[in-house]
Amino acid sequence: MLKKIPFLLLLQARCFSTKFTLKELAGQLRDNYKNVVVMVGAGLSTPSGIPDFRSPDSGVYNNLQKYNLPRPEAMFDIHYFQKNPLPFFDLARELYPGRYKPNLAHYFIYLLQQKGKLLRLYTQNIDGLERLAGIKEDILVEAHGTFSTASCIKCKKKYDPDEVKRDIFNNSITICDHCQGIVKPDIVFFGEELPKRFDDCADSDTKKTDLLIVMGTSLEVYPFAWLADVLPFNTPRLLLNREEVGSFGISISPYTADVVIKNDIIDGVKLLAKEVGWWDELKLLTDEKTNINVPD
Ligand code: OAD
Ligand code: ZN
Repeated sequence: MLKKIPFLLLLQARCFSTKFTLKELAGQLRDNYKNVVVMVGAGLSTPSGIPDFRSPDSGVYNNLQKYNLPRPEAMFDIHYFQKNPLPFFDLARELYPGRYKPNLAHYFIYLLQQKGKLLRLYTQNIDGLERLAGIKEDILVEAHGTFSTASCIKCKKKYDPDEVKRDIFNNSITICDHCQGIVKPDIVFFGEELPKRFDDCADSDTKKTDLLIVMGTSLEVYPFAWLADVLPFNTPRLLLNREEVGSFGISISPYTADVVIKNDIIDGVKLLAKEVGWWDELKLLTDEKTNINVPD
């Protein structure tokens, strides 16, 4: 079930000093790693113009005053939604995919896929930009759901997502003809289960992962965040984020091969791509796909 719980410190874990460097990691990525797992959140899409949730000032949760919610996360809480679905439907009109384009960081993940190195992309995002960037269906896990399907919140009957979208944009609510429940896009709310695919993929991927890359997420929401902490402790992990999150950068972390690029995601991806030797390829790809010249 989707929930927000405080990060559980692995108190019994021994403290190791990190010796693995970005240079070493980049060399291994270029020459050896074949099963890279990438976990992303809203920070991946802020360079595309979509706000994240928890950044001070710009985050969605800091800009919901007009809805008079008991707390910001009530916007995506299934119990609150059952009582008052209007705030979500209002915000949904802004969040619906269609207005935004993937950015350089999305295309870096696409490049990993094209090189046969991307085992899985786990995303919390509901903006659909991973699909638009060309990530294949079997590689993608949309852990917090999608606007591309819709169902009744009570009996789970499936509805045509285009009709549900039309209703939302016409300020009306689709009601289930079977049980009178409210129909909503299949975005995973707090209090709802993640898609079964998340557990199924995680079970097998954690045994194969030779590098984990975490990008643009606060790692505050479980069970998604859990995935970063269930790999063997010697698995290399790379964080690309403005701030250290989860068990990255804490002195008692048991992980022995963590690398952190604490930076804007675009600059961080550039740095990584340059270290790996993929920068020219990534720049060309992004220029072609976005019709914008990415500066060197
Ligand atoms: P958050 O807003 O919690 O975290 C975004 C992270 O990305 C933060 O650590 C930011 O500092 C970082 N960030 C933002 N822009 C960046 C940039 N340009 N460069 C580098 N770092 C940047 O978003 P999520 O972790 O995705 O759930 O939030 C998780 C879940 O909480 C969401 O899926 C959503 C929300 O409740 C649902 O809606 C169900
Ligand atoms: Zn129903």
